[in-house]
Amino acid sequence: MIADEEPLGWDTSAAAAAYQDRDMRLAEQLIFPRVLERLGRCTGPDRLALDVGCGTGAVAAQLAGAGEWTVQALDPSAGMLEIARADRPHPRIAYRLFDGRALPWLADDSVDAAVCCLVYCTDPDDDRLAALTREIRRVLRPGAPYVLADLNPAATGVPFSTLRHGEAGAVYRDGDTVPTLLRLRDGSTMTSATHYRSLGRYRSFLTGAGFPSPTVDLPTLPADGPAEDAPAESRTAPYMILTTHV
Ligand SMILES: C[S@@+](CC[C@H](N)C(=O)[O-])C[C@H]1O[C@@H](n2cnc3c(N)ncnc32)[C@H](O)[C@@H]1O
Repeated sequence: MIADEEPLGWDTSAAAAAYQDRDMRLAEQLIFPRVLERLGRCTGPDRLALDVGCGTGAVAAQLAGAGEWTVQALDPSAGMLEIARADRPHPRIAYRLFDGRALPWLADDSVDAAVCCLVYCTDPDDDRLAALTREIRRVLRPGAPYVLADLNPAATGVPFSTLRHGEAGAVYRDGDTVPTLLRLRDGSTMTSATHYRSLGRYRSFLTGAGFPSPTVDLPTLPADGPAEDAPAESRTAPYMILTTHV
């Protein structure tokens, strides 16, 4: 993929509109099934899951549809929420604007599961993410899962079929801004920035908030042809999925 435009921030309506058109094939194959599996079965009506940083609502739709959860889908971007409400309305999803930090309308121990997908990599502010992680810990019931899916920090610079985060050969450190290309469905690219954090940094967000250290899944696609023709995502995991429980 070639960078062909100026990077977009994540909190603009232009970013939301471009993100709406992203090529979701890798996320659909590598993230969504694993997130649902790691959340576990929704064991009854009105079991509440949070989709924190829901963007245009793709994960919330999975949770409410295949997962059968009742979902509060939260995001600090009004532009993302406007698209989510229009594109993915569902009787069991309530979309809500929030500040990316606090969940004051939710009581302690009142939520059955939480998911946060491709969010930490878009927020440069460690203090806000630490506060958000503590809030997620506070509202989850004992035993409830928290599934945090994000870019695999060990995969910077790898040209996957629908994204590349980071320049080939570059070495990134916690806090670095990483140029990131997402392929859109029409074959063009969206250029944005993400924020590099090592796996150790992700673990610290979780353990610092009182969660046990997470399990780490690094899903890849099966290679069905000769190794030299296989896409990068059959050798290296583009995403990581961290699962922990209160
Ligand atoms: C790359 S999009 C991912 C959206 C969605 N989770 C998905 O997987 O399609 C990142 C989203 O995270 C939101 N975001 C950024 N910082 C956040 C924070 N501190 N708390 C919650 N959401 C945040 C952005 O507004 C944006 O909608």
